Amino acid sequence: MINFQELADQYQTPLYVYDFDYMTEQYEALKSAFKARKSIMAYAVKSNSNLSTIAHFAKMGAGADCVSIGEVRRALLAGVKPYKIIFSGVGKSDAEIKEAIESDILYINVESAAELDRVEMIAQDLGKVSRISVRVNPNIDPKTHPYISTGLHGNKFGVDLNTAKRLYLKANNSEHLDPVGIHFHIGSQLTELDPIREASEIVADLVRSLQVFNLELKFFDVGGGLGIRYDDEKTIEPHDYAQAILGTLSGLDLTIICEPGRFLTANAGYFVSKVLYEKKNDEKRFVIIDGAMNDLLRPSLYSAYHEIMTLKEGATTKADIVGPVCESGDFFAKDYELPELNHNDLVIVKSAGAYGFGMGSNYNTRGRSCEIAVQAGESRIIRARETFEDLVALEKEYLRA
Ligand code: LLP
Repeated sequence: MINFQELADQYQTPLYVYDFDYMTEQYEALKSAFKARKSIMAYAVKSNSNLSTIAHFAKMGAGADCVSIGEVRRALLAGVKPYKIIFSGVGKSDAEIKEAIESDILYINVESAAELDRVEMIAQDLGKVSRISVRVNPNIDPKTHPYISTGLHGNKFGVDLNTAKRLYLKANNSEHLDPVGIHFHIGSQLTELDPIREASEIVADLVRSLQVFNLELKFFDVGGGLGIRYDDEKTIEPHDYAQAILGTLSGLDLTIICEPGRFLTANAGYFVSKVLYEKKNDEKRFVIIDGAMNDLLRPSLYSAYHEIMTLKEGATTKADIVGPVCESGDFFAKDYELPELNHNDLVIVKSAGAYGFGMGSNYNTRGRSCEIAVQAGESRIIRARETFEDLVALEKEYLRA
């Protein structure tokens, strides 16, 4: 059990705490669910891009799913092998494509016909061959929050089946492109199996139809998206998830690539803050804490539910848990049952390990929190708290008297 009070005393608040042992367990559960085939767990760096987190998974053999060249650089810096790195995203710049090819990563995941042309041109300029996959948009409703749903034709991601086929045939005839993989990712925080199975079936059929043209793909990249329990969601077991996918691949000799983010990191993370004040009016009780929407945006942005924990016991009443930022949208929870709290009591926001710190900002000139890893009973800093000097460093030299 993590001793939050001790960590708060030692490192101050607000503070992100990550349980690296929990991350290990989640990684192993998912990896072993796919053991019937060769597989690479390409950790979705965006979910928690701290170098130590990436390195933790890399040490267990993980690859990395990246969506900017910055993430590719992070992955390399953290020790991920280039041949396990995938670079996705609808808007890669020329400079990013060039660097990805030069870094000799596993493949660039192409998301449009225009992008395929650019990758070919850039590879030609470099005198190289670029390994690619095509992101297929299977037009399947993943039944998740609209902001994190990606596999419908109304979403900007990937290309439709006919376009994908055309791109593969083109790539197969190019001296500078080597089509090695196929990719789909229908959304995040998935809690239903049917959409995953359906998408997998559609994409597996496309792989079969390409074999007719002597095009043998090697990697079947199923994206990420496996949901976790924030509240009382019924989640998918790794075994059932793997079986739903593997069941669609009969007769195909493919290495599975999986891009888990949230499943590995969300419930490993806690956002720890302190009570500054309480105040009440005739309608509401507000608990004002030292963390804010700039630290954890999910409640404000998606109305996301995060369980809140305190170290106090006793009778509870409803309260809004809010931060110091000057926005009414700056809240962690509304009408949440909390015991009576005093100045400096801890308020701990759970399931904060994915899309927490990384979506943070410096809004209201607030420095980002410190990040701590807990592993085998020991804690260590993995990112220092940002200081005011850090925040103004890139502006100060331009300041005119
Ligand atoms: N692969 C691709 C191509 C993705 O777009 C994503 C997430 C993942 C893998 C990892 O998905 P995961 O396993 O973590 O569900 N900020 C939102 C989530 C955005 C997800 C974006 N893509 C949130 O806080 O819920």
